[in-house]
Amino acid sequence: MSDTNVGGTLELRDSRTGSAYAAPITTEGPEGDTYIRAGDLKQVKRGEPGEFGLLSYDPAFMNTASCKSAITFIDGDKGILRYRGYPIEQLAESATFLEVAYLLRHGELPTQAEYDVWVHDITFHTYVHENIRKFLEGFRYDAHPMSMLCSSVAALSSFYPNAHNIFDPKERYVSVIRLLAKLPTLAAFAYRHVKGLPTIYPDNQLNYGENFLSMVARMSEPKYEANPVFSRALEVLFILHADHEQNCSTNAVRAVGSSHVDPFSAVSAGIAALFGPLHGGANEQVLRMIKDIEHPKNVPAFIESVKSGKGGPKLMGFGHRVYKNYDPRARIVKKLADQVFAQIGIDKDLEIALELERIALSDEYFIARKLYPNVDFYTGLIYRSMAFPTDFFTVLFAVARTAGWLAQWEEMLDDKEQKIARPRQIYVGHGERQYVDPLTNKFPRAHKDVLRK
Ligand code: SDX
Repeated sequence: MSDTNVGGTLELRDSRTGSAYAAPITTEGPEGDTYIRAGDLKQVKRGEPGEFGLLSYDPAFMNTASCKSAITFIDGDKGILRYRGYPIEQLAESATFLEVAYLLRHGELPTQAEYDVWVHDITFHTYVHENIRKFLEGFRYDAHPMSMLCSSVAALSSFYPNAHNIFDPKERYVSVIRLLAKLPTLAAFAYRHVKGLPTIYPDNQLNYGENFLSMVARMSEPKYEANPVFSRALEVLFILHADHEQNCSTNAVRAVGSSHVDPFSAVSAGIAALFGPLHGGANEQVLRMIKDIEHPKNVPAFIESVKSGKGGPKLMGFGHRVYKNYDPRARIVKKLADQVFAQIGIDKDLEIALELERIALSDEYFIARKLYPNVDFYTGLIYRSMAFPTDFFTVLFAVARTAGWLAQWEEMLDDKEQKIARPRQIYVGHGERQYVDPLTNKFPRAHKDVLRK
């Protein structure tokens, strides 16, 4: 998969000592990523006793690779996204979500026989223990469904004590199957709880997307009939959200998983990270932003408030750490939005979104900062047209991203170079100081209890 060659050397000269150092430059992978190992900087020292050596300092890992991965490739400038080498456009067009989940985990598309076993195993693990359903009943009626999802996934770990056998292939496989199968069930149970509706149990005769919609939307009818446009739109959105290399929540799953905790606990950490408004929570914030704008005629004033900079609102659904071009997923979602809205008619919110995009794409402020629509910009509009409540959008993101989190979690466990994630720091606090008596300013403290009254 990756052709590693150490092409060249980074030659460093330390002006403090005049010493010269060399760090090998490695070129690896089909895209020719080049790097030095941060550990090679440790040799650079002032020569003081016990000196650790030169650290690299990179808040938010803006220029640091935390791992080697063969799962997803993104080219931010060219707007490319591929899962295991397959362009996202082709997968969104023709694959099923479970096929993509298989591809992400196994590295190859399944044969029909492999796919049938995979789908069967997932289909027959969709139920959760009744105590989990009762656990969800303990939440308030207005609990955010992401809080419910995060805690119920973590709670699942207590129902599968063998899940901590993460190096047992059978236990690992069944945990992956259970998480892929039960996330939609937990998400739907959370939805029904917040709506005050009775839970609808999985219908194993339906496919993954239809079953999810059935658990969410079925009322008194004996069999749920999914709107084919909606169930296909959901399938495509799940595919688009399935993985995205080392994003914030995947980094969380890898870091938590590196302690060798069970995958339910590691995935619950991913859900917690995804909940943040700068990450998966953005799709919810896009709708709230559109609601606040209220009418297309208010868009120019809103854009001006965004451009006012620090303290002004962000244009939610725009910008990306990696994509400095149009997020390829946003293009697909926009096309999907056109199809869905062709069914239900264009509404004011979509007009506001189109006007926001039109103005932002031609405005120097956004162009200079390479701010383009990301995957979250149109997704919320589609979910809302499917009658999902705004605070449920990120739950849908989490259901899909579980496939990527699990593939990345396993890749981390199988990577011989990986160990427990434990970054270093640059200490900028106090030097040593004495715990003195506040009255006498002397050490040791004579007035032991002076602050304890
Ligand atoms: C996802 O990492 C992933 O892959 C994530 C994701 C995935 O699939 O996992 O793709 C999913 O999380 C998509 C992103 C969803 N988030 C949003 O839409 C929230 C709004 N976007 C921003 O908060 C921001 O763009 C980030 C968080 C997405 C990226 O932030 P960066 O890379 O840290 O960039 P930055 O904050 O340093 O911004 C650079 C400049 C700044 O201006 P200056 O200080 O230089 O003047 O651009 C400005 C920012 O203020 N800026 C924005 C903006 N995003 C960045 N200004 C207005 N609106 C915005 N949305």
